[in-house]
Amino acid sequence: MNMKKVNLKKIGVLTSGGDGPGMNAAVRAVVRSAISNGLAVEGIMRGYQGLIDDELIGMDRRSVSGIIGRGGTLLKTARSPEFRKEAGQQKAVSILKKHKIDALVVIGGDGSYLGANDLYKKWGVPTVGLPGTIDNDLYGTDLTIGCNTAINTAVEAIDKIRDTAHSMERIFIIEVMGNRSGYIAMEVALSSGAEDVVVPEAKPDYKTMCARISQGEKRGKVSWIVIVSEGVIKASVLAETITNMTGFETRSVVLGHVQRGGNPCALDRILSTRLGVAAVEELIKGNYGQAIGVIQDKINIIPLADARKRINDIYEERYRLINMLR
Ligand code: F6P
Repeated sequence: MNMKKVNLKKIGVLTSGGDGPGMNAAVRAVVRSAISNGLAVEGIMRGYQGLIDDELIGMDRRSVSGIIGRGGTLLKTARSPEFRKEAGQQKAVSILKKHKIDALVVIGGDGSYLGANDLYKKWGVPTVGLPGTIDNDLYGTDLTIGCNTAINTAVEAIDKIRDTAHSMERIFIIEVMGNRSGYIAMEVALSSGAEDVVVPEAKPDYKTMCARISQGEKRGKVSWIVIVSEGVIKASVLAETITNMTGFETRSVVLGHVQRGGNPCALDRILSTRLGVAAVEELIKGNYGQAIGVIQDKINIIPLADARKRINDIYEERYRLINMLR
């Protein structure tokens, strides 16, 4: 369905799914660019669930003051099982109508994109999506909002763990987030100088990993760090396997939600700001049902339906370097 261009007066903005550093900067850019273009803006609290529950707040330039550098999302966020059902979507659409919201900017990951696509295709609501997830697992953009900050946060923590690994001559298994994507794990491994990495995109070979650890010890290596992407194997289980196979003391650390928090780095602020402005501009042009990203520094627009779950292709190249440099 290609909808006719709507005479926009008011737009809504929501953040949905896992929060990520940079979401606030994106909301700020959406709100202020919309106002600059003569549009009114409603902020929708708690993602699609807040829309169903009619939790809306009118926004002006001041409502987004001082948030460009703050982590999390001032609009709060949630995952909404109710919105996945037809009745939930119907309710959401009626709330949009009640508040005379002509179009919606959705900031979130693949589940949120699915919702935005449903709103457009099934219910005729003009939507656009911005890639708000730390996982960097969406097509149509080189990088998703929050990913770079999350990588930096993990690397900072691992640098600290390296100090104790080195001092106590231990092996550390460190689990990072990624939601079935090994992107964060691979980039974190390369940038923290980790000795090995386990990602969902490659078959794990723990025997070879252990053989390398033993060879490393013979070469005089005193510490060894393995980054594990969540979901492949629990860090604690891998630590036990390694201790059993090599006899070396091994500890495990799950970095968890620390990776989603903190102030966005400059790269994420710039990305989010550019995307937020582009979202409003596309809605004004009448270009609905689109996912907005940045590829090779240029705004890139693809249909929401094509923007889901990306299989990254960085693994071979990165893994070759990790193997060479350990
Ligand atoms: O999608 C972002 C993400 O942080 C994933 O990396 C992770 O698997 C998931 O969200 C965790 O979700 P929750 O915060 O609901 O536990």
